[in-house]
Amino acid sequence: MPDLLPDAAARWRRMEARLAAVCDGWGYSHIRLPLVERTELFRRSVGDTSDIVGKEMYQVRGGTGKDDLSLRPEGTAGCVRAAVEHRLLDGPCRLWYLGQMFRHERPQKGRLRQFHQMGVETFGMAGPDIDAEVVALAAALWDALGLAGRLRLQINSIGDAGCRARYRQRLVEYLTPLAADLDEDSQRRLESNPLRILDSKDPRTIEILSAAPRLDDCLGDDARRHFADFRAALDALGLEYRVNRRLVRGLDYYNRTVFEWQADDGLGSQNALCAGGRYDGLARQLGGADCPALGFALGLERLMLMLDQSPADNRDAAADCYLIATEQEAQTELMALAMRLRRQLPHLRIVQHCGGGKLKAAMRRADRSGARLALILGASERAAGQISAKDMRTGHGGDQTQLDSGTGLAGRIQSMLGNGAGGMA
Ligand code: HAM
Repeated sequence: MPDLLPDAAARWRRMEARLAAVCDGWGYSHIRLPLVERTELFRRSVGDTSDIVGKEMYQVRGGTGKDDLSLRPEGTAGCVRAAVEHRLLDGPCRLWYLGQMFRHERPQKGRLRQFHQMGVETFGMAGPDIDAEVVALAAALWDALGLAGRLRLQINSIGDAGCRARYRQRLVEYLTPLAADLDEDSQRRLESNPLRILDSKDPRTIEILSAAPRLDDCLGDDARRHFADFRAALDALGLEYRVNRRLVRGLDYYNRTVFEWQADDGLGSQNALCAGGRYDGLARQLGGADCPALGFALGLERLMLMLDQSPADNRDAAADCYLIATEQEAQTELMALAMRLRRQLPHLRIVQHCGGGKLKAAMRRADRSGARLALILGASERAAGQISAKDMRTGHGGDQTQLDSGTGLAGRIQSMLGNGAGGMA
C-alpha cells in the first residue's frame, strides 16, 4: 500500500483534475462513498465465487465485533447501494467517483493491495445509446490525458441471464469430459463459475476452448440486437474496437455489454487499464426496483504508469515567496503580513520560516523551498516600515530591493514574480 509523496501527489492532483473536468463536462455528477460496506453487499453483487470476494477482501470488525464489514474492493456495489438507499434511481442518473479500493492480491507492477479507481455509473437508461456514450466518455478521458492511440478497446456481449444459463450448460457438457486437461483454476471453476474459464491464460485450456461452444451462439434476439446497435454507434463515432468473444469479466453482476481498454505499452502483464459493462439486474438484487445500469472503472496507478514519467515541473510543490524574520519577536508581525499576502494573492504559495536559527540557515531553507522570492524582515526594515526582497534566481550576490510593507506590497510581489507565477498548472 504505497505512500504518495508530495511530488507524486502533485502529479496525481493534476491527473485527477483532468479526469474530473471531463466527467463534469459530460454532465456526470460526483459522488463520494464510504470505504467500508457490509461484506454481504459484495457477496451479493460482485459474487461469492469471484476471486475478489472469495480470496481478496479485507474484512473489518466493528466495535462489538458483530458487524461483518469489508474494505471496498471496487466501487460499483457501494454506488448502487447508495443510489437505492437515497432514491437516486427515479430517473436517468449519471455519477462518477474516485477513491481507494482494496484487494488482497499478490502485489506487482500495476497491481497493488490499495489502489485507486475513477469510475462512472449510469442508471435508468437501457441503451444501447448510453453504452456508446460511456465508452466514448472513456475515450474522451484518454484524449484529455494525451493517451489517444495507446489503448485498445475490446467489447463483447455476455447476453441476459437466460442466454448465460443456456451457454453455461453447453460449456459444462463440453468441458466435463476434458476436465483433467484443464488448468487447476479452470477445474475448480467448472463447478463454481464455468464462464470464467473463458478468461483462462493457460495455453492448454485455451486450446481446448478453441473448439468449445460459443457464447454468441446462445444470445437471444434482444441481446443480439442490443449488441449490434451498440457496435453501430461505436462505428458512427469512429471508435475502434475488437470484438473479443472470450471477454467475460471477473465480477458476477454483468449482463449484455462488457468492455475493456488495454494498454499497448507501459503496463506489462497488468495491461487492463479500464473495464466495465452493463449490470441491469443489480439494483433489484440489492433491494431496489428494476433499473438498467452500466459503468466502468479505471485504475489510477496504471494510468499514472502510462502517463509521462519525466520529472514533472514541480511548481505545485515549490513555494513562490519565503518570508523570514531575523528577530524572533517579529515572528507574529510577519505572520500577520503573510496572512494578508495570502488573502491578496491566493494563487501564490507563501511560506513563512519557522523554527528560528541564523539568517544564513533560513536562506538555505528558502532556497530548498524552491521560492523565487525571499522577503526578509530585519530590525532596520521594521523601523522603516519596509521589507527586503531578494530574488533567489540571481544567487547569493543577487539583488536585494527594499519594498514598502504596506498594502501596496502584494502588487510589487506580483510584478516581481511576473504573470506566470504560482497556481496549479
Ligand atoms: P475491475 O476490472 O475489477 O472492475 O477493475 C477496474 C480497473 O481497476 C482495472 O482495469 C484496473 O485498472 C484497476 N485495478 C483492479 N485491481 C487492481 C489492483 N489490485 N491494483 C491496481 N489496479 C487495479 C471493477 O472494479 C468494476 N467495478 C468496474 C465497473 C464499474 N463495472 C461497472 N461499473
